[in-house]
Amino acid sequence: MEVLSNIASGKAHGKIILIGEHAVVHNEPAIAIPFTSVNTEVVIEKINGDTTIDSMYHQGRIADAPTSIRNIVETFYAVCSYLKQPTENMHLTITSTIPAERGMGSSAAVATALVRALFNFFNTELTDALLNQFVSISEKIAHGNPSGLDAKVVSSGQSIYFIKDKTAEFFHTDLPAYLVIADTGVEGDTGEAVTAVGQLVADSTSNGKTLIKELGRLTNKARKLIEEKQVQTLGEILSLAQEKLAALSVSNDKLDRLVTTAKAHGALGAKLTGGGRGGCMIALVDTNDKALEMALQLIKAGAKKTWIHPLGENKHDK
Ligand code: MEV
Repeated sequence: MEVLSNIASGKAHGKIILIGEHAVVHNEPAIAIPFTSVNTEVVIEKINGDTTIDSMYHQGRIADAPTSIRNIVETFYAVCSYLKQPTENMHLTITSTIPAERGMGSSAAVATALVRALFNFFNTELTDALLNQFVSISEKIAHGNPSGLDAKVVSSGQSIYFIKDKTAEFFHTDLPAYLVIADTGVEGDTGEAVTAVGQLVADSTSNGKTLIKELGRLTNKARKLIEEKQVQTLGEILSLAQEKLAALSVSNDKLDRLVTTAKAHGALGAKLTGGGRGGCMIALVDTNDKALEMALQLIKAGAKKTWIHPLGENKHDK
């Protein structure tokens, strides 16, 4: 493969939903934070011939890509068509440290990085509205009925209070606290989990609708507690949200075990994050030492990987 002179790239990072996942699909609010410890990059090089992809899921012609990355392929064609550019003569390299299907926004981040790379490659300015429009093409294919939250937060440097089709308020978190994020190592399936919750909400004999409303109320309480820097009560709210999510059938044994472990070892609160049924959980603690200890305990309880994310730029322990 002869690489010609043109080269361009696009990046995006992961996300953590603090509270409000699933409820956000049903028009309740959610709060999410950018998670820059994991990220993704798409590099586009000009070549002669058919466009090819080099990624974890496919190496070869984009035309031969498997359906598992149809979201990426369709987004690629949609952007090229919008920009009135040929779909040949490119080599796309996709690298990512965001674990896939773990509730960290991997699919939205790859789509965001791809759209940014294509606009860079074709020297065209990309507005937030256009980025959102193209990433939602990808997210609809990946997850069926996305709220749009992931698309917003993986391209932003700030936390977000989000209501579908209505509100996207950005803010900086400055809390004397840390999130410990633990990966169960098990892939979730956001599309399947969203469908299952949707069925509960539609079923008038279940309490699905009530649970969604309660999650919305908890999210609004969490927002106030963040403003007031009340981390103790914020932790309690996160644990209550976990109970509602479990009642909505999106927790599982591995997540429950990590949540129980976190609480037994002094977490202020703990819950799953993202689509659930696998993927990651978060535990809120108030010092860096406790975060380090929590990470160890979660690994002992079966977590495959942990991350520590300060909610206040590391300055609170000093
Ligand atoms: C997935 O990261 C979050 C969900 O609320 C789905 C969505 O918001 O599209 C489960």
